[in-house]
Amino acid sequence: MAFVNLKNVTYKYPLTDKPALQNINLQIKEGEFVAIVGPNGAGKSTLCYTLAGFAPHFFKGELSGTVEVAGKISNQSTLDEWVLNVGLAFQNPFNQISGAKYTVFEEIAFGLENIGIPRDEMKKRVEDAMTLTGITDLADRSPYSLSGGQQQRVALTSILVMRPKLLVLDEPTSQMDPIGTREVFGTIRKMAEEGMTVVLVEHKVEWIAEFADRVIAMHNGQVLLEGNPSEVLTSNVLIKNGFGLSRYTSAAREAKKLGIWKKEKLPVTLDEAVEGFKK
Ligand SMILES: Nc1ncnc2c1ncn2[C@@H]1O[C@H](COP(=O)(O)OP(=O)(O)O)[C@@H](O)[C@H]1O
Ligand SMILES: [Mg+2]
Repeated sequence: MAFVNLKNVTYKYPLTDKPALQNINLQIKEGEFVAIVGPNGAGKSTLCYTLAGFAPHFFKGELSGTVEVAGKISNQSTLDEWVLNVGLAFQNPFNQISGAKYTVFEEIAFGLENIGIPRDEMKKRVEDAMTLTGITDLADRSPYSLSGGQQQRVALTSILVMRPKLLVLDEPTSQMDPIGTREVFGTIRKMAEEGMTVVLVEHKVEWIAEFADRVIAMHNGQVLLEGNPSEVLTSNVLIKNGFGLSRYTSAAREAKKLGIWKKEKLPVTLDEAVEGFKK
């Protein structure tokens, strides 16, 4: 049985006519690392909200079909119960800051405090999570004094500290440089290897090809294509529908027209491009 199982999920925000998600069917195994790609407005964030129980519990609106995670069904659970299993890092990290805490340390401890974790255990868990995401030196800073990339790391840390079974990340590295992105992806990959299930919305497709097990391409609230990262990310279907390609794929496509790229398969990552151009 799938760990995450979406059956015929359609969701409409309040006061809108067109569903933001239409008839989504999606199964994810425990410990799988799934990346979601798609142009703006495709429904990626809405899918994240739906997995995280915010749709329908917070955004209201109309949800049909079933969203099952870890054997529970979202509209048969309360949001408080649901968030014990599923953690969501929002697209805009600023929306994640509680506004109730003066330091990053307290901010990260906030969720544990709310579920009544004893003080000593809380301190240890916060310190471990901060080490994992490399933000130990930010512990005493105000959450509001941070750069966008630092806020994204704090947001990720405040989710990881809760040890969710399903980690949902909506463009978690959008404000980070390549080094920060690589570090964060490494951390996420490690969590998946330790058994956490990960759903990641990401535009930086070369990273997806390196880290994710599977890619789901969304368009107009539907799943357009899914499968192996390197196949999906070089597919003509994506090119025709306005998806972003990796720069290596774009370069090799042009090179192929000129007869310089000889392989059938196009690259997604730098390593694949180097390998293909060498021959
Ligand atoms: N809070 C909201 N209320 C009404 N419509 C929304 C809301 N948020 C998103 N939408 C609409 O839902 C669709 C999908 O949006 P979204 O999930 O944010 O896409 P993506 O994350 O792929 O850019 C879009 O048409 C968008 O305008
Ligand atoms: Mg979005």
